[in-house]
Amino acid sequence: MHAILYHKYGLPDVLNYSQNAKKPKPDRGEVLVKIEAAALNPVDCEMRKGMLSILRSSKFPKIPGSDFAGRIVEAGAGVTRFKEGDEVYGMSKTRIGGAYAEYIKISPQEIGLKPKNITMEEAASIPLAALTSLQAMRDLAHLQSGQSVIINGASGGVGVYAIQLAKAMGAETTAVCSFRNAELVKGLGADHIIDYTQTDMLKLDQKFDMFYDVYGNKSLAKTRQLLNHGGTYVSTIPWPANFQAQFLSMFSSVKGKVVLVKSRTSDLDELRQLIESGQLKPVIDKVYPLAEGRAAQEYLETRRARGKVVLRVKS
Ligand SMILES: NC(=O)c1ccc[n+]([C@@H]2O[C@H](COP(=O)([O-])OP(=O)(O)OC[C@H]3O[C@@H](n4cnc5c(N)ncnc54)[C@H](OP(=O)(O)O)[C@@H]3O)[C@@H](O)[C@H]2O)c1
Repeated sequence: MHAILYHKYGLPDVLNYSQNAKKPKPDRGEVLVKIEAAALNPVDCEMRKGMLSILRSSKFPKIPGSDFAGRIVEAGAGVTRFKEGDEVYGMSKTRIGGAYAEYIKISPQEIGLKPKNITMEEAASIPLAALTSLQAMRDLAHLQSGQSVIINGASGGVGVYAIQLAKAMGAETTAVCSFRNAELVKGLGADHIIDYTQTDMLKLDQKFDMFYDVYGNKSLAKTRQLLNHGGTYVSTIPWPANFQAQFLSMFSSVKGKVVLVKSRTSDLDELRQLIESGQLKPVIDKVYPLAEGRAAQEYLETRRARGKVVLRVKS
């Protein structure tokens, strides 16, 4: 099958396009999906560099990527929820990957039916980034209608869905991005915009119920004074310092949390309903053919993407 492979950890030049990659075979309880589109996430690049290598199989070649959309072509024994022919979208475990390819084998618990009103490329752009924001805002910050959230890194892959989900939850949303992305975030529903190149958000004379540090350069210690009593800081960066802050804030009036995204059918179904009702729209910056997976990762690593970067897998 066609796939992007790497045979060792390293810079983007370890990524190569192959037309002879081994097609996966689903085990009992798994499905085989013929992928039509995949999406990139910064964690794909971290895995390529060797992140969590001691927790991963030592076998090479590896296929990067977690986000995909496609059609089920084989349902292994014991699969009841999905059937051959179903159009699905989903996210594989980030340490396993496998999405920059023509086929992926996956647990049915990590996929959902694809929203009907969007393309395969658009569907692939949703899972990891939107699930992260859904789980951060709904499960960690318990964001409620009428509350306020400030999103640092609002114009990237995770941020563009965070704005829309916060809006759907009825929260007042402040988006932090550079000036060039102000129109984008406004169009997604941000109530207020802060250009971080002009304004130091840490000096704002205002408080929020949630500080969502998507970009990852504002710690709980730096942002505590921006949070209301009972407010929550959530970081997307699983660094030891952020887990330490989470532990130390357990008995404080302001909580620190770290989001670790998980793929679940029930959450993918919730996102599908938001998409089909028009409350959540895919935001795609660039689409590359699968064969250009290396260039796509190089672009993502500039940290200038506006929304998501996608791979077209179906030729
Ligand atoms: N823990 C988890 O489960 C989890 C899940 C998903 C993602 N993450 C992590 O979350 C982070 C963000 O992911 P992503 O997909 O959104 O990344 P991304 O798409 O690469 O983010 C790009 C965006 O970052 C913005 N940016 C660059 N410098 C900035 C700065 N100094 N301040 C604020 N914004 C800045 C850029 O906007 P401008 O051009 O306007 O500056 C650009 O739109 C990554 O580190 C990723 O690994 C973690």
